[in-house]
Amino acid sequence: MVYDLAMKVLAAGLLLMISIQAHLIVSATAAAAGDVAGPSKIRIRQVPAMYVFGDSTLDVGNNNYLPGADVPRANMPLYGIDYLGSKPTGRFSNGYNVADFIAKKLGLKESPPAYLSLAPRTTPLVVTALAEGVSYASAGAGILDSTNAGNNIPLSKQLRYFESTKAEMQAKVGSAAVRFLLSRSFVLLGIGSNDLFVFAAAAPTPTPADVVALYSGLISNYSAAITDLYGMGARKFGIINAGLLGCVPAVRALSTTGACDDGLNQLAAGFDGALQSLMASLAARLPGLVYSLADSHGLTQATFADPQASGYTTIDSACCGSGRLGADSDCLPNSTLCGNHDQFVFWDRVHPSQRAGELSAAAFYDGAPEFTAPINFKQLARKI
Ligand SMILES: *[C@@H]1O[C@H](CO)[C@@H](O)[C@H](O)[C@H]1NC(C)=O
Ligand SMILES: *[C@@H]1O[C@H](CO)[C@@H](O)[C@H](O)[C@H]1NC(C)=O
Repeated sequence: MVYDLAMKVLAAGLLLMISIQAHLIVSATAAAAGDVAGPSKIRIRQVPAMYVFGDSTLDVGNNNYLPGADVPRANMPLYGIDYLGSKPTGRFSNGYNVADFIAKKLGLKESPPAYLSLAPRTTPLVVTALAEGVSYASAGAGILDSTNAGNNIPLSKQLRYFESTKAEMQAKVGSAAVRFLLSRSFVLLGIGSNDLFVFAAAAPTPTPADVVALYSGLISNYSAAITDLYGMGARKFGIINAGLLGCVPAVRALSTTGACDDGLNQLAAGFDGALQSLMASLAARLPGLVYSLADSHGLTQATFADPQASGYTTIDSACCGSGRLGADSDCLPNSTLCGNHDQFVFWDRVHPSQRAGELSAAAFYDGAPEFTAPINFKQLARKI
Protein backbone atom coordinates (compact mmCIF):
# COMPACT_ATOMS: atom_id res chain seq x y z
CA MET A 1 0.00 0.00 0.00
CA VAL A 2 2.67 2.44 1.09
CA TYR A 3 4.85 1.12 -1.70
CA ASP A 4 2.08 1.61 -4.23
CA LEU A 5 1.73 5.22 -3.20
CA ALA A 6 5.48 5.78 -3.29
CA MET A 7 5.49 4.20 -6.72
CA LYS A 8 2.84 6.56 -8.06
CA VAL A 9 4.69 9.60 -6.78
CA LEU A 10 7.89 8.27 -8.22
CA ALA A 11 6.37 7.45 -11.59
CA ALA A 12 4.74 10.87 -11.75
CA GLY A 13 8.07 12.46 -10.88
CA LEU A 14 9.91 10.56 -13.56
CA LEU A 15 7.41 11.41 -16.25
CA LEU A 16 7.34 15.04 -15.19
CA MET A 17 11.11 15.18 -15.41
CA ILE A 18 10.97 13.93 -18.96
CA SER A 19 8.28 16.34 -20.00
CA ILE A 20 10.07 19.40 -18.64
CA GLN A 21 13.52 19.13 -20.13
CA ALA A 22 15.21 16.68 -17.91
CA HIS A 23 18.66 17.64 -19.11
CA LEU A 24 18.40 20.99 -17.40
CA ILE A 25 17.31 19.49 -14.09
CA VAL A 26 20.07 16.91 -14.12
CA SER A 27 22.80 19.38 -14.95
CA ALA A 28 21.52 21.88 -12.42
CA THR A 29 21.62 19.19 -9.73
CA ALA A 30 25.14 18.22 -10.70
CA ALA A 31 26.29 21.84 -10.68
CA ALA A 32 24.74 22.47 -7.27
CA ALA A 33 26.51 19.41 -5.88
CA GLY A 34 29.83 21.03 -6.64
CA ASP A 35 28.99 23.86 -4.29
CA VAL A 36 28.50 21.69 -1.23
CA ALA A 37 31.59 22.13 0.91
CA GLY A 38 32.92 19.67 3.43
CA PRO A 39 31.09 16.80 5.09
CA SER A 40 27.37 17.35 4.99
CA LYS A 41 24.27 15.43 5.95
CA ILE A 42 22.65 16.61 2.75
CA ARG A 43 23.18 14.17 -0.06
CA ILE A 44 22.81 15.46 -3.55
CA ARG A 45 22.31 12.80 -6.16
CA GLN A 46 24.83 12.78 -8.96
CA VAL A 47 22.89 10.05 -10.79
CA PRO A 48 19.30 8.79 -10.53
CA ALA A 49 20.36 5.23 -9.66
CA MET A 50 23.26 2.78 -9.49
CA TYR A 51 23.31 -0.83 -10.69
CA VAL A 52 26.11 -3.04 -9.43
CA PHE A 53 27.56 -6.20 -11.02
CA GLY A 54 30.52 -8.14 -9.73
CA ASP A 55 32.10 -10.26 -7.02
CA SER A 56 32.74 -10.27 -3.26
CA THR A 57 34.39 -6.87 -3.32
CA LEU A 58 30.94 -5.41 -4.19
CA ASP A 59 28.48 -8.01 -2.79
CA VAL A 60 26.10 -6.55 -0.20
CA GLY A 61 24.27 -9.74 0.65
CA ASN A 62 23.14 -11.62 -2.46
CA ASN A 63 24.99 -14.75 -1.39
CA ASN A 64 23.03 -14.85 1.88
CA TYR A 65 20.10 -16.03 -0.24
CA LEU A 66 21.90 -18.75 -2.20
CA PRO A 67 21.52 -22.34 -1.01
CA GLY A 68 24.44 -24.67 -0.40
CA ALA A 69 27.18 -25.20 2.17
CA ASP A 70 29.96 -24.11 -0.21
CA VAL A 71 28.52 -20.69 -1.00
CA PRO A 72 30.83 -17.98 0.39
CA ARG A 73 28.84 -15.90 2.85
CA ALA A 74 29.77 -13.07 5.19
CA ASN A 75 26.59 -13.35 7.22
CA MET A 76 28.10 -14.02 10.63
CA PRO A 77 30.33 -12.12 13.03
CA LEU A 78 32.98 -10.81 12.93
CA TYR A 79 31.96 -9.48 9.52
CA GLY A 80 30.13 -6.20 9.87
CA ILE A 81 31.57 -5.43 13.31
CA ASP A 82 31.97 -1.77 12.31
CA TYR A 83 28.68 -1.59 10.38
CA LEU A 84 25.60 0.03 11.94
CA GLY A 85 24.65 -2.09 14.96
CA SER A 86 27.71 -4.30 14.31
CA LYS A 87 25.49 -6.21 11.89
CA PRO A 88 26.87 -8.84 9.49
CA THR A 89 25.11 -8.01 6.22
CA GLY A 90 26.87 -10.20 3.72
CA ARG A 91 29.55 -7.61 2.98
CA PHE A 92 33.06 -9.10 3.05
CA SER A 93 34.30 -6.28 5.21
CA ASN A 94 34.29 -5.05 8.79
CA GLY A 95 31.80 -2.38 7.64
CA TYR A 96 31.06 -0.89 4.28
CA ASN A 97 32.71 -2.02 1.05
CA VAL A 98 33.92 -0.03 -1.95
CA ALA A 99 30.47 -0.15 -3.62
CA ASP A 100 29.00 1.55 -0.54
CA PHE A 101 31.58 4.31 -0.59
CA ILE A 102 31.13 4.90 -4.32
CA ALA A 103 27.37 5.01 -3.73
CA LYS A 104 27.90 7.60 -0.97
CA LYS A 105 29.98 9.72 -3.33
CA LEU A 106 27.12 9.54 -5.81
CA GLY A 107 24.71 10.80 -3.16
CA LEU A 108 23.12 7.51 -2.10
CA LYS A 109 23.00 6.32 1.50
CA GLU A 110 25.04 3.20 0.79
CA SER A 111 25.16 0.56 -1.97
CA PRO A 112 21.74 -0.22 -3.41
CA PRO A 113 20.41 -3.41 -1.81
CA ALA A 114 21.02 -6.98 -2.95
CA TYR A 115 18.69 -8.16 -5.70
CA LEU A 116 17.88 -11.40 -3.89
CA SER A 117 16.85 -9.45 -0.78
CA LEU A 118 14.18 -7.68 -2.89
CA ALA A 119 13.02 -10.37 -5.32
CA PRO A 120 10.71 -12.26 -5.51
CA ARG A 121 8.34 -9.55 -4.22
CA THR A 122 7.82 -7.36 -7.27
CA THR A 123 6.79 -4.07 -5.70
CA PRO A 124 9.80 -3.55 -3.39
CA LEU A 125 12.07 -4.59 -6.24
CA VAL A 126 10.58 -2.12 -8.69
CA VAL A 127 10.40 0.76 -6.21
CA THR A 128 14.03 0.26 -5.19
CA ALA A 129 15.22 -0.27 -8.76
CA LEU A 130 13.61 3.01 -9.81
CA ALA A 131 14.52 5.05 -6.75
CA GLU A 132 18.14 4.04 -6.13
CA GLY A 133 19.17 0.95 -8.07
CA VAL A 134 19.97 -2.69 -7.32
CA SER A 135 23.08 -4.75 -6.63
CA TYR A 136 23.52 -8.07 -8.39
CA ALA A 137 27.09 -8.63 -7.16
CA SER A 138 27.85 -12.07 -5.75
CA ALA A 139 30.90 -13.33 -3.88
CA GLY A 140 32.88 -15.89 -5.83
CA ALA A 141 31.39 -14.84 -9.16
CA GLY A 142 33.43 -14.69 -12.32
CA ILE A 143 33.16 -13.50 -15.86
CA LEU A 144 33.01 -17.17 -16.79
CA ASP A 145 30.06 -19.29 -15.71
CA SER A 146 32.50 -22.07 -14.87
CA THR A 147 34.27 -20.02 -12.17
CA ASN A 148 33.26 -21.44 -8.77
CA ALA A 149 30.20 -22.81 -10.57
CA GLY A 150 27.11 -23.48 -8.48
CA ASN A 151 28.21 -21.34 -5.56
CA ASN A 152 27.50 -17.81 -6.78
CA ILE A 153 25.56 -15.74 -9.31
CA PRO A 154 27.86 -15.63 -12.35
CA LEU A 155 27.99 -12.42 -14.38
CA SER A 156 25.76 -13.88 -17.11
CA LYS A 157 23.02 -14.59 -14.55
CA GLN A 158 23.46 -11.18 -12.89
CA LEU A 159 22.58 -9.73 -16.30
CA ARG A 160 19.48 -11.90 -16.61
CA TYR A 161 18.35 -10.67 -13.19
CA PHE A 162 18.90 -7.10 -14.39
CA GLU A 163 16.90 -7.85 -17.53
CA SER A 164 13.98 -9.10 -15.47
CA THR A 165 14.27 -6.07 -13.16
CA LYS A 166 14.10 -3.84 -16.23
CA ALA A 167 10.98 -5.64 -17.48
CA GLU A 168 9.29 -5.08 -14.10
CA MET A 169 10.26 -1.41 -14.14
CA GLN A 170 8.88 -1.00 -17.65
CA ALA A 171 5.62 -2.64 -16.66
CA LYS A 172 5.30 -0.06 -13.91
CA VAL A 173 6.43 3.21 -15.49
CA GLY A 174 6.77 2.49 -19.21
CA SER A 175 9.75 2.07 -21.48
CA ALA A 176 10.49 5.77 -22.07
CA ALA A 177 10.93 6.46 -18.36
CA VAL A 178 13.12 3.39 -17.96
CA ARG A 179 15.25 4.29 -20.96
CA PHE A 180 15.76 7.76 -19.49
CA LEU A 181 16.63 6.38 -16.06
CA LEU A 182 19.07 3.71 -17.26
CA SER A 183 20.91 6.00 -19.66
CA ARG A 184 21.75 8.34 -16.78
CA SER A 185 22.43 5.76 -14.10
CA PHE A 186 25.82 4.62 -12.86
CA VAL A 187 26.65 1.03 -13.73
CA LEU A 188 29.41 -0.28 -11.48
CA LEU A 189 31.28 -3.42 -12.53
CA GLY A 190 34.08 -5.21 -10.70
CA ILE A 191 34.75 -8.78 -11.76
CA GLY A 192 37.52 -11.02 -13.11
CA SER A 193 39.64 -11.67 -10.01
CA ASN A 194 37.94 -14.98 -9.27
CA ASP A 195 38.49 -16.19 -12.84
CA LEU A 196 42.19 -15.39 -12.44
CA PHE A 197 42.45 -17.05 -9.00
CA VAL A 198 40.79 -20.19 -10.32
CA PHE A 199 43.00 -20.27 -13.40
CA ALA A 200 46.18 -19.78 -11.35
CA ALA A 201 45.23 -22.51 -8.88
CA ALA A 202 44.59 -24.98 -11.71
CA ALA A 203 47.67 -23.98 -13.75
CA PRO A 204 50.52 -22.83 -11.46
CA THR A 205 52.95 -22.72 -14.40
CA PRO A 206 50.82 -21.88 -17.44
CA THR A 207 52.21 -21.69 -20.96
CA PRO A 208 51.95 -18.37 -22.80
CA ALA A 209 49.33 -20.00 -25.01
CA ASP A 210 47.24 -20.91 -21.94
CA VAL A 211 47.36 -17.31 -20.77
CA VAL A 212 46.40 -15.95 -24.20
CA ALA A 213 43.44 -18.35 -24.30
CA LEU A 214 42.40 -17.28 -20.80
CA TYR A 215 42.47 -13.56 -21.63
CA SER A 216 40.68 -14.07 -24.89
CA GLY A 217 37.83 -15.99 -23.22
CA LEU A 218 37.53 -13.48 -20.39
CA ILE A 219 37.64 -10.44 -22.62
CA SER A 220 35.18 -11.78 -25.18
CA ASN A 221 32.70 -12.67 -22.46
CA TYR A 222 33.21 -9.37 -20.64
CA SER A 223 32.73 -7.60 -23.95
CA ALA A 224 29.49 -9.51 -24.55
CA ALA A 225 28.28 -8.61 -21.05
CA ILE A 226 28.95 -4.88 -21.43
CA THR A 227 27.42 -4.87 -24.90
CA ASP A 228 24.38 -6.64 -23.46
CA LEU A 229 24.03 -3.98 -20.72
CA TYR A 230 24.39 -1.28 -23.38
CA GLY A 231 21.68 -2.99 -25.40
CA MET A 232 19.41 -2.85 -22.35
CA GLY A 233 20.00 0.90 -22.07
CA ALA A 234 23.01 1.34 -19.78
CA ARG A 235 25.43 4.06 -20.88
CA LYS A 236 27.69 5.04 -17.96
CA PHE A 237 30.12 2.32 -16.94
CA GLY A 238 32.40 2.59 -13.92
CA ILE A 239 34.69 -0.43 -14.08
CA ILE A 240 37.15 -1.60 -11.45
CA ASN A 241 40.04 -3.70 -12.77
CA ALA A 242 41.62 -6.77 -11.20
CA GLY A 243 43.75 -5.78 -8.20
CA LEU A 244 47.09 -6.92 -6.85
CA LEU A 245 45.86 -10.49 -6.41
CA GLY A 246 49.27 -11.93 -5.59
CA CYS A 247 49.51 -9.79 -2.45
CA VAL A 248 46.38 -10.87 -0.58
CA PRO A 249 47.27 -12.58 2.73
CA ALA A 250 45.93 -15.95 1.54
CA VAL A 251 48.40 -15.91 -1.37
CA ARG A 252 51.32 -14.45 0.59
CA ALA A 253 50.87 -17.25 3.13
CA LEU A 254 51.82 -19.77 0.43
CA SER A 255 55.30 -18.26 0.36
CA THR A 256 57.82 -19.15 3.07
CA THR A 257 58.87 -15.51 3.23
CA GLY A 258 55.34 -14.09 3.00
CA ALA A 259 56.17 -12.41 -0.29
CA CYS A 260 53.64 -11.49 -2.97
CA ASP A 261 53.18 -13.91 -5.87
CA ASP A 262 54.60 -11.94 -8.79
CA GLY A 263 53.25 -14.42 -11.31
CA LEU A 264 49.68 -13.85 -10.12
CA ASN A 265 50.21 -10.09 -10.09
CA GLN A 266 51.46 -10.27 -13.68
CA LEU A 267 48.52 -12.44 -14.67
CA ALA A 268 46.17 -9.76 -13.29
CA ALA A 269 48.15 -6.95 -14.93
CA GLY A 270 47.85 -8.66 -18.31
CA PHE A 271 44.11 -8.98 -17.89
CA ASP A 272 43.90 -5.32 -16.86
CA GLY A 273 45.77 -4.26 -20.00
CA ALA A 274 43.37 -6.25 -22.16
CA LEU A 275 40.42 -4.73 -20.30
CA GLN A 276 41.72 -1.24 -21.01
CA SER A 277 41.89 -2.01 -24.74
CA LEU A 278 38.43 -3.57 -24.63
CA MET A 279 36.85 -0.47 -23.09
CA ALA A 280 38.51 1.84 -25.61
CA SER A 281 37.23 -0.27 -28.48
CA LEU A 282 33.70 -0.58 -27.05
CA ALA A 283 33.52 3.19 -26.54
CA ALA A 284 34.57 3.71 -30.16
CA ARG A 285 31.96 1.25 -31.39
CA LEU A 286 28.91 1.93 -29.20
CA PRO A 287 27.54 5.47 -29.55
CA GLY A 288 26.88 7.21 -26.24
CA LEU A 289 28.81 4.68 -24.14
CA VAL A 290 30.98 6.48 -21.60
CA TYR A 291 33.23 4.82 -19.07
CA SER A 292 35.78 5.25 -16.36
CA LEU A 293 38.25 2.44 -15.79
CA ALA A 294 39.47 2.40 -12.19
CA ASP A 295 42.95 1.04 -11.59
CA SER A 296 42.65 -0.94 -8.39
CA HIS A 297 45.89 -2.73 -9.29
CA GLY A 298 47.92 0.48 -9.62
CA LEU A 299 46.32 2.07 -6.58
CA THR A 300 47.25 -0.92 -4.40
CA GLN A 301 50.83 -0.85 -5.71
CA ALA A 302 51.09 2.85 -4.88
CA THR A 303 49.59 2.26 -1.42
CA PHE A 304 52.01 -0.58 -0.68
CA ALA A 305 54.95 1.59 -1.69
CA ASP A 306 54.09 4.00 1.14
CA PRO A 307 51.50 2.47 3.49
CA GLN A 308 51.97 5.09 6.24
CA ALA A 309 50.85 7.82 3.87
CA SER A 310 47.41 6.16 3.92
CA GLY A 311 47.49 5.53 7.66
CA TYR A 312 48.23 1.81 7.39
CA THR A 313 50.58 -0.09 9.67
CA THR A 314 49.95 -3.50 8.12
CA ILE A 315 49.62 -4.50 4.49
CA ASP A 316 50.40 -8.21 4.57
CA SER A 317 48.10 -9.74 7.21
CA ALA A 318 44.38 -10.03 7.73
CA CYS A 319 42.85 -8.09 10.62
CA CYS A 320 40.39 -10.93 11.21
CA GLY A 321 41.67 -14.48 10.90
CA SER A 322 44.05 -16.87 12.56
CA GLY A 323 47.58 -18.18 12.28
CA ARG A 324 50.37 -16.83 10.12
CA LEU A 325 49.39 -13.54 8.40
CA GLY A 326 45.86 -14.18 9.73
CA ALA A 327 45.51 -16.37 6.68
CA ASP A 328 45.03 -19.86 8.15
CA SER A 329 41.26 -19.43 8.33
CA ASP A 330 38.44 -17.21 7.16
CA CYS A 331 37.20 -14.47 9.44
CA LEU A 332 35.10 -16.45 11.95
CA PRO A 333 33.18 -15.63 15.14
CA ASN A 334 36.12 -16.93 17.21
CA SER A 335 38.86 -15.22 15.15
CA THR A 336 41.45 -12.94 16.70
CA LEU A 337 41.10 -9.30 15.68
CA CYS A 338 43.75 -6.70 15.11
CA GLY A 339 43.72 -3.58 17.28
CA ASN A 340 42.89 -0.75 14.91
CA HIS A 341 40.83 -2.06 11.98
CA ASP A 342 41.59 1.05 9.93
CA GLN A 343 45.32 0.39 10.03
CA PHE A 344 45.01 -2.86 8.08
CA VAL A 345 44.58 -3.00 4.30
CA PHE A 346 42.97 -6.43 4.59
CA TRP A 347 40.00 -7.36 6.74
CA ASP A 348 40.11 -11.08 6.05
CA ARG A 349 42.62 -13.20 4.17
CA VAL A 350 41.27 -12.09 0.78
CA HIS A 351 39.18 -8.95 1.23
CA PRO A 352 40.00 -5.32 1.88
CA SER A 353 39.06 -3.55 5.09
CA GLN A 354 36.35 -0.90 5.23
CA ARG A 355 39.09 1.73 5.31
CA ALA A 356 40.68 0.32 2.14
CA GLY A 357 37.27 0.43 0.44
CA GLU A 358 36.84 4.05 1.48
CA LEU A 359 40.26 5.07 0.18
CA SER A 360 39.69 3.24 -3.12
CA ALA A 361 36.35 4.94 -3.65
CA ALA A 362 37.90 8.33 -2.92
CA ALA A 363 40.68 7.64 -5.43
CA PHE A 364 38.30 6.44 -8.14
CA TYR A 365 35.75 9.19 -7.62
CA ASP A 366 37.97 12.24 -7.82
CA GLY A 367 41.44 11.34 -6.59
CA ALA A 368 44.84 11.38 -8.26
CA PRO A 369 44.30 11.24 -12.04
CA GLU A 370 46.56 8.24 -12.65
CA PHE A 371 44.08 5.82 -11.06
CA THR A 372 41.21 6.38 -13.50
CA ALA A 373 41.07 6.62 -17.28
CA PRO A 374 40.00 8.37 -19.40
CA ILE A 375 37.89 10.23 -16.79
CA ASN A 376 37.13 9.67 -13.11
CA PHE A 377 33.87 8.40 -11.58
CA LYS A 378 32.74 11.91 -10.71
CA GLN A 379 33.14 13.09 -14.29
CA LEU A 380 31.41 9.94 -15.49
CA ALA A 381 28.45 10.58 -13.19
CA ARG A 382 28.09 14.07 -14.58
CA LYS A 383 28.17 13.11 -18.25
CA ILE A 384 24.87 14.11 -19.86
C1 LIG B 1 31.56 -17.10 -22.92
O1 LIG B 1 31.58 -17.02 -24.31
C2 LIG B 1 31.47 -18.26 -24.96
C3 LIG B 1 31.73 -18.04 -26.43
O2 LIG B 1 30.89 -17.03 -26.92
C4 LIG B 1 30.14 -18.87 -24.66
O3 LIG B 1 30.00 -20.14 -25.30
C5 LIG B 1 29.98 -19.05 -23.18
O4 LIG B 1 28.68 -19.44 -22.87
C6 LIG B 1 30.33 -17.82 -22.42
N1 LIG B 1 30.59 -18.25 -21.08
C7 LIG B 1 30.21 -17.67 -19.99
C8 LIG B 1 29.23 -16.56 -20.03
O5 LIG B 1 30.66 -18.03 -18.95
C1 LIG C 1 36.87 -21.55 15.71
O1 LIG C 1 35.71 -22.05 15.11
C2 LIG C 1 35.96 -22.96 14.06
C3 LIG C 1 34.65 -23.30 13.36
O2 LIG C 1 33.56 -23.13 14.16
C4 LIG C 1 36.66 -24.19 14.59
O3 LIG C 1 36.92 -25.11 13.56
C5 LIG C 1 37.98 -23.74 15.24
O4 LIG C 1 38.63 -24.82 15.81
C6 LIG C 1 37.75 -22.65 16.26
N1 LIG C 1 39.04 -22.12 16.66
C7 LIG C 1 39.37 -21.89 17.90
C8 LIG C 1 40.72 -21.29 18.12
O5 LIG C 1 38.64 -22.13 18.82
